[in-house]
Amino acid sequence: MKKTDFENLVIWKEKLRKYPIILKDLEKELYVLEPKSKKYKEIETKIKEHKQTFIVIEKKILKYEAKFFDIERGLYKGVAIDVQDKKKKKIPLYLKLSNLSNHVGYTGTTRVGKTKNMINDARQLAKAGWDVIIVDPKGGEDQEILNETVEASFQANRAEDFRYISPAFSDESEQMNLLFGMGDEEIASLIKNFAESVSGDGFFSEVVFQNTQAAVKGLSFVELATDPFGEYTQYLEEQELKRYLNLKMTKGLLHDVEINRWNKTKTPDDLFLLMQDENKNYKFLDSDIEIEFYQNRSMVTLKTLSKFVSFESLDNLRTLIKDSIPVPSIEIVGERKYNDIIRLKNEALLSLDLVLSEDNSILMKEEDRQKTKERLKENFVKISKSHSVLLSQLTFGDIGKVFSNVGINPLANRLLSEENGLIAVMQPFPMKYKTISNMSVMAILKSIESMMGLVGSSGRANKRRLAIMIDEAGSIMYNQIEDLFNKAGGLGVSMFVYTQSYEDYALKLGETCANVIRDNINTPIVMRMNHSKSAKEAAESVGTTLIYKNKFMAGSDTNVISSADRYSIDSVREAIATFEEINSLPIGMGFIRHDMKTYLVDFTYVPSLKNYPIEMPVLDTEKKVRHIAKYEDEILKSIAEVQNISLGVKVA
Ligand SMILES: Nc1ncnc2c1ncn2[C@@H]1O[C@H](COP(=O)(O)OP(=O)(O)OP(=O)(O)O)[C@@H](O)[C@H]1O
Ligand SMILES: [Mg+2]
Repeated sequence: MKKTDFENLVIWKEKLRKYPIILKDLEKELYVLEPKSKKYKEIETKIKEHKQTFIVIEKKILKYEAKFFDIERGLYKGVAIDVQDKKKKKIPLYLKLSNLSNHVGYTGTTRVGKTKNMINDARQLAKAGWDVIIVDPKGGEDQEILNETVEASFQANRAEDFRYISPAFSDESEQMNLLFGMGDEEIASLIKNFAESVSGDGFFSEVVFQNTQAAVKGLSFVELATDPFGEYTQYLEEQELKRYLNLKMTKGLLHDVEINRWNKTKTPDDLFLLMQDENKNYKFLDSDIEIEFYQNRSMVTLKTLSKFVSFESLDNLRTLIKDSIPVPSIEIVGERKYNDIIRLKNEALLSLDLVLSEDNSILMKEEDRQKTKERLKENFVKISKSHSVLLSQLTFGDIGKVFSNVGINPLANRLLSEENGLIAVMQPFPMKYKTISNMSVMAILKSIESMMGLVGSSGRANKRRLAIMIDEAGSIMYNQIEDLFNKAGGLGVSMFVYTQSYEDYALKLGETCANVIRDNINTPIVMRMNHSKSAKEAAESVGTTLIYKNKFMAGSDTNVISSADRYSIDSVREAIATFEEINSLPIGMGFIRHDMKTYLVDFTYVPSLKNYPIEMPVLDTEKKVRHIAKYEDEILKSIAEVQNISLGVKVA
């Protein structure tokens, strides 16, 4: 009888499982043999043959497995058995997309296939039209994830959706203003979080919150009062978008993908013209008002904000709001807007007074204010210095290029666009930029959270779901990421996290926050784990079952059965997968808890790309190190030459 595709797939997957063991055994044998011996040659030939066989097996698996990718049925994970199924029947396992809104969490020790799973998940979801943001803290020499993601976007016919974000390669990176679109409070609490994550000091971060809030609220008022209908702001934002697109056009490498697409319809010259400033003459609503444009609130960046945290700037802002900026008349703007402007003015002054004086100086006389001002200034200087140092970490150099060069947020544009999507790789490099890497991941995720929240609360949910996939998630966890796990599902965002064990989260966030994350992961996936403690925890995460045990309680001391004897049934919870099983899982296999069932899965085979087309440019620092290494080689070589000559050895 002809075998089904699934039967064939199972057969070839089993062959693959045996293959590496045989190869390893052969290689071990080879190791102890005398090269040139007959036996050595024999084994060498066998290894060659096996490698040939591997090519055949891989081809067959890819052929049969391709038939099972079917996003309508769900995210395909591989060949599985329901652990509690007595018949141990093999099935293709699909994770229902509707169940993924409450997040997927992988745990497994190193080299067991976490990243391969991430690539497999990303490929399928990109094909399904989801937006995907991958956080790749490792980067890695061969840039596997970057190359695979670019490949995945081509496979999904979405190459133009691809974006790269990294402070290390700032010239290749997408640039964005993460504060764009955030509310005043959101900006203040984001920067407060930065302060907390860097200093761990509650007082400092509270002051940072107050200062930032005062600055952004003040700027919000200025913007609304001078441009109540937002026309000028919109014009500035459009100009900024053009400037940004122009900037990108002059770049190469990863952006080629997008630019090529544009080029199909327009030549670069056309595009350049399109990007030119329209020279739109904007007239202020009331042409009598002559205010030098201060700082547009909508496009405030971390950099511009860092300039506002000094005592003088905030004090100037206060004076400006209090004395110089007129509130437009009710006839022009209408009652509702007028009330909004007045309310904002009061709020802004209140916030500014709060940080510029000891008590609420709205009630204070101006002379008293001046007296306390000098004393306050001294205290203020200390804190605002640390505050601006904090912000400058994110605004100088490479990081600044990524986060403060443009006023708008092109990533947000992609996520909100009806026509275009986003497939992004973010590489924060936590080994190189310790605190900043955490802050930049936090900032990006916060801005996404804020944007999705905005969309969600308007009731106009995004058309596409977004998957945020974090590889090596333990290394970039920041405080309050648990909020994202709590809220994301409802905002159309699914989190996929890949880490060695849940302890990674507890180490960074503390038990309570780590538990929030765990409670929000309703599809836990466990691969091999070595430590018994984490393996045991992992075993419990993929499901427990009630085991009933008869218990006999003798009613008397005698051996004779009496009516006082009792039988009772005790139930105990036991993990469905034992930790010994988890401990001995082979590479590429794991347990999945999904839809109330526990499966043992032989994961989808993910072949390595034949070549990695994307190679990152050499960084200046690397250049230096390479140069000096080469220089040392040269010196050592010439020393050797000199020594050889003195020993009378001829140098070839
Ligand atoms: N699904 C798979 N398909 C093909 N090969 C796999 C698969 N899973 C694991 N492998 C093999 O195992 C190796 C390690 O996989 P991977 O890099 O995904 O592990 P990891 O758990 O992410 O490891 P690390 O802790 O180093 O990041 C791969 O290079 C590959 O050879
Ligand atoms: Mg990995």
